[in-house]
Amino acid sequence: ALRGSFASKAQKSSPRSQHHLSPQASYKVAILGAAGGIGQPLALLVKMSPLVSALHLYDIANVKGVAADLSHCNTPSQVLDFTGASELANSLKGVDVVVIPAGVPRKPGMTRDDLFNINANIVKTLVEAVADNAPEALIHIISNPVNSTVPIAAEVLKHKGVYDPKKLFGVTTLDVVRANTFVAQKKNLKLIDVDVPVVGGHAGITILPLLSKTKPSVSFSDDEVKELTVRIQNAGTEVVEAKAGAGSATLSMAYAAARFVESSLRALDGDGDVYECSFVQSDLTDLPFFASRVKIGRKGVEAIISSDLQGLTEYEQKALENLKPELKASIEKGIAFAQKQP
Ligand code: NAD
Ligand code: LMR
Repeated sequence: ALRGSFASKAQKSSPRSQHHLSPQASYKVAILGAAGGIGQPLALLVKMSPLVSALHLYDIANVKGVAADLSHCNTPSQVLDFTGASELANSLKGVDVVVIPAGVPRKPGMTRDDLFNINANIVKTLVEAVADNAPEALIHIISNPVNSTVPIAAEVLKHKGVYDPKKLFGVTTLDVVRANTFVAQKKNLKLIDVDVPVVGGHAGITILPLLSKTKPSVSFSDDEVKELTVRIQNAGTEVVEAKAGAGSATLSMAYAAARFVESSLRALDGDGDVYECSFVQSDLTDLPFFASRVKIGRKGVEAIISSDLQGLTEYEQKALENLKPELKASIEKGIAFAQKQP
């Protein structure tokens, strides 16, 4: 859950008490692709965090206006804008967390893998710059196809000699956010209480909600399991179709990414109780990357929670086996792309 800190002290203060406002921590966050559909609302939500002292907004265009606009919000962080490749390096200097939502979104009829040809190059270029300028930062990859862009990022970082698998995250928080929402609706539960781990990857059948592990404990009929699983797997497509050519999820994605940023910052700040699902380098299965719950600490991934994959239902076990070939192929496609580049 977002916990209290997300509703910042600044929100509760009157304008007259502004001079009393200071960040509760001073982390620097960069958003690469900050002028986009996700980037803008994500920047707004991160601007509300009391843990952030500086917000660096980078895009190839249109970022000046976004930064000017946001900078008028009377919350602690300073907003800086960086436009175009020549300012990319500076946008990353001294940054603790880099969030990457740069890239093209789907249109109806497309799969996330159809974005590979454009987004693979974008992610590669941006992560090269992160390696050169913020090698210690936590990296949150949102750009699709996540199942391939995260392995690309790993290869780029390895090539640069700065790969720390504990610091590279594929953002799958939106799958958890959706699962929590849909389960709470279906079972008439209080939203704030519901937590469903979602494992595997972030595309179609590779998205596997573990409904049997829902907290609080709740029982589902076989039909409910099928219906909820399919809805969670297709939720991205649901939005793509509703937007009818105008893009994919941006607002719910920004909400989810902001939650993941806030969790990461709390972890960096010493909170010893931060757990999120994320697509990371993992030894939970025979695949090199896998999404599961992870414990995040001061140095990134502190532990991968293996218990979620124990005691699965027959349905979940079968779905897990079924997703592996597709996820494996997407991972290998990313690795092969990165390795054949100069
Ligand atoms: P968008 O087109 O609205 O915004 C993308 C932004 O990236 C634009 O502002 C564009 O100028 C910028 N950009 C393009 N190339 C760039 C580069 N080389 N450097 C920096 N910025 C660059 O798209 P969106 O709706 O914000 O979606 C962005 C990506 O996020 C898509 O790939 C989409 O599929 C993905 N996405 C992922 C999830 C997830 O759960 N992980 C959810 C929703 C969307
Ligand atoms: C999502 O799950 O909403 C994103 O991955 C965007 C998409 O293409 O569906």
